[in-house]
Amino acid sequence: SVAEAAMSTSARSTVNTLGVVGGGQMGMGITVTAATQGKKKVICVDSNAAALQKSLENSKRILASQVTKGKITAQEKEEAIARIVTTQDLNSLKDVDFVIEAVPEDPFFFICLNIHLFYGWIKMTINNKIQKNEKVKKSIFEQVSKITQNDVILASNTSSIPITRIASWVSEDRRDKVCGMHFMNPVPVMQLVEIIPGLQTSNDTKAKVIALAEQMGKTTSVSRDDAGFIANRILMPYINEAVFVLQEGIATKEDIDKTMKLGTNVPMGPLTLADFIGLDTCLFIQQTLYESTKDSKYKPAPLLQRYVEAGWLGRKTGRGFYNYEIKKDK
Ligand code: NAI
Repeated sequence: SVAEAAMSTSARSTVNTLGVVGGGQMGMGITVTAATQGKKKVICVDSNAAALQKSLENSKRILASQVTKGKITAQEKEEAIARIVTTQDLNSLKDVDFVIEAVPEDPFFFICLNIHLFYGWIKMTINNKIQKNEKVKKSIFEQVSKITQNDVILASNTSSIPITRIASWVSEDRRDKVCGMHFMNPVPVMQLVEIIPGLQTSNDTKAKVIALAEQMGKTTSVSRDDAGFIANRILMPYINEAVFVLQEGIATKEDIDKTMKLGTNVPMGPLTLADFIGLDTCLFIQQTLYESTKDSKYKPAPLLQRYVEAGWLGRKTGRGFYNYEIKKDK
């Protein structure tokens, strides 16, 4: 609207230096992609020195494999590495042109909430912890919005916190510069980025977030700020339904996966995909959809909950719907 346009100022257009907060799985993927495809200088901040070191090694491994696959040259790899700065100091972001936040929203407490739903006092404790957990993200937005210049866009890679809520954590005159930028895992491989404007995000900001994603070699889709956005809103009930089909004994896990893989032409079946994502993450997102809509169609499958309770979280624990130690030898 005209009033909106008058109120919001233009966001910085040229991104030479990108700031990334959180150097984990996603943050380092974003860093590496921006440094290679986008040829951006990237300052990646993580509070945990050991995690940062591990991520940096992982990213070098990713780049080396891209060289092996002929996607980039050895020289491009070296140039990309030279563009990446890792630090524990948030103040290093003071001169960046754009920020992407990728710190965790720990699913653990949501899972506990679900397991202990009937025990009021545990629920209360856990609710406090959820709030505390959002506080980490909140404190990052509060700090980064002050450290950076006013025309710098603050994007979040969140998969479950509403963008409009995240925007409420910065001063009112900055909220037009806050936007969701939801990368898919693994970032260097997956083509798509979902763009989620919050209620107060300006069109100018949205266009500049899309432009950065494209400079990073990605394709974008736009979603309204609602639970699950597009990808998870569709994917998680799909995975959940596959678990119901397994739970009800309608088909074996192999037949479920074979049917969907070969029958709908996707790279892997839903149970294999769930193991890949992590069953705790799937349960967390499904629970978030259910909690925010109260719609029974999003109720997590009991078998999914049991697997998470058993600690069978998928690939990362060696066992989910499939057993990965055995699979490795095949
Ligand atoms: P991760 O646990 O691998 O990495 C998070 C990093 O943030 C860790 O290295 C941690 O040390 C760091 N960190 C924690 N607190 C910090 C602070 N106060 N300041 C700076 N760094 C801090 O988590 P992952 O998988 O990279 O996920 C991060 C975010 O991305 C989450 O919000 C998640 O919802 C979102 N996401 C995750 C996807 C996935 O498939 N894993 C897909 C899309 C979005």
